[in-house]
Amino acid sequence: MLPSLVQTAYIIAAVLFVLALAGLSRHETAKLGNAAGMVGMVIAIAATVAEALRSAERGPVVTGVLILVAVLIGATIGLWRSRTVEMTGMPQLIAMLHSFVGLAAVLVGVGSFLDTAHSDLAHRIEVAIGVLIGAYTFTGSLVAFAKLSGRMKSKALMLPGRHVLNLLALIAAIGCTVWFALAPQFPFGLIALLAIALLGFALGWHMVASIGGGDMPVVVSMLNSYSGWAAAAAGFMLGNDLLIITGALVGSSGAILSYLMCQGMNRSFVSVILGGFGEGTGGVQEDRDYGEYRETSAPEVAGLLERARTVVITPGYGMAVAKAQGPVAQLTQLLRDRGVSVRFGIHPVAGRLPGHMNVLLAEAKVPYDIVLEMDEVNDDFADTDVVLVIGANDTVNPAALEEPHSPIAGMPVLEVWHAREVIVFKRSMAAGYAGVQNPLFFRDNTRMLFGDARERVQDIIKAL
Ligand code: TAP
Repeated sequence: MLPSLVQTAYIIAAVLFVLALAGLSRHETAKLGNAAGMVGMVIAIAATVAEALRSAERGPVVTGVLILVAVLIGATIGLWRSRTVEMTGMPQLIAMLHSFVGLAAVLVGVGSFLDTAHSDLAHRIEVAIGVLIGAYTFTGSLVAFAKLSGRMKSKALMLPGRHVLNLLALIAAIGCTVWFALAPQFPFGLIALLAIALLGFALGWHMVASIGGGDMPVVVSMLNSYSGWAAAAAGFMLGNDLLIITGALVGSSGAILSYLMCQGMNRSFVSVILGGFGEGTGGVQEDRDYGEYRETSAPEVAGLLERARTVVITPGYGMAVAKAQGPVAQLTQLLRDRGVSVRFGIHPVAGRLPGHMNVLLAEAKVPYDIVLEMDEVNDDFADTDVVLVIGANDTVNPAALEEPHSPIAGMPVLEVWHAREVIVFKRSMAAGYAGVQNPLFFRDNTRMLFGDARERVQDIIKAL
């Protein structure tokens, strides 16, 4: 009776996960999608625990207590982190969570091998692949965590012959997989499996370290996809159908997102998978002199906005850091009440998370219909009186189009410089996440408004 109930619960949970993904693909249905995912996960956990208790070798009480202790520890840490994490800390938190999935797959693989040393060939291949993907995801995500949280330079690591090193590591991993599959006897099988894990760790670390800051969005979504495949591999090793389905959903949706991001950023999908990004960094002229920049003040910007008919706001990561979305929404309303056309231009990788800016603007109740994607707004800048660049940098950098050796060369950007006046809100002349200077700041029609974006927007509101 219980096994069929568990299977039914797994099917219901799987359907709810598909509905969650469908719901999350549109603003209007995102909350419903989230709710479907949460209900699905509760059903999935309840069914998995029930199944674990039923088939527990040590008896349901001991297993139940062990599960409870694990859930309590995990839930306590999870609740504490979710209450304390800032919106700007979310990307690195997500990278860290991906790394846990990778490590779990490695541990499940080693555990599964030690438990069933004489398993069949197919199972051993599953274990080897699961451990390799898991190990890659673990260290790759840790490097992504370090890069996103500023603990490691976002610049690409350029080891000589890096592609050859990657290829050799991959060939060695395949060799160890064959060895492990054909000769699993203790201790050689374990040595081969640990060698696969070490090669996976090295590959994950090196491939993500050799990717430049501007290309990190694609890498983060690739690692999201890998974490799904690692979970699916763990599902195969544990014989858990729901984990296979859930992992495959995460893996394939992450892969689709990565592909779309590659298209949006004009990058080659294959090149990301092979860790081949950042190749253009060799010829960057970091100390290039772009001339003088000009400063402005909040009252001056208020004066400009009073005379403007059309305004486009292009927010970036700095808006999230400054928590400026509330005042930005207020300023938008104020200008719209005065008959000014105000729209937002959102770059696909503005901020540090897919949809980062959309989430912040939705939270501040900016109407969806004035929040446009980059392609929808790029042709309109020439007819725009004022562009307010609020904490954005790489996503409005003309070097992407004009400097072929720039690390962000080829990435489509918001072409704000075509507008009559461009006001850049930032605290200093520091570079953006990709670490490259922005020639926009030195153009004749650009004025820098220095200071915290939230305070400066509030100053403008006061002056209006
Ligand atoms: P960035 O290039 O990261 O620049 C943000 C700017 O905000 C900085 O120049 C900074 O200058 C300014 N800033 C920071 N705090 C501020 C504050 N309190 N008030 C005012 N300004 C502040 O931003 P972007 O244009 O959004 O580009 C995103 C970058 O992140 C891209 O390179 C993208 O590839 C990368 N990335 C994106 C993602 C995703 S999925 N979106 C994931 C990983 C990486 P100051 O320090 O001078 O103030």
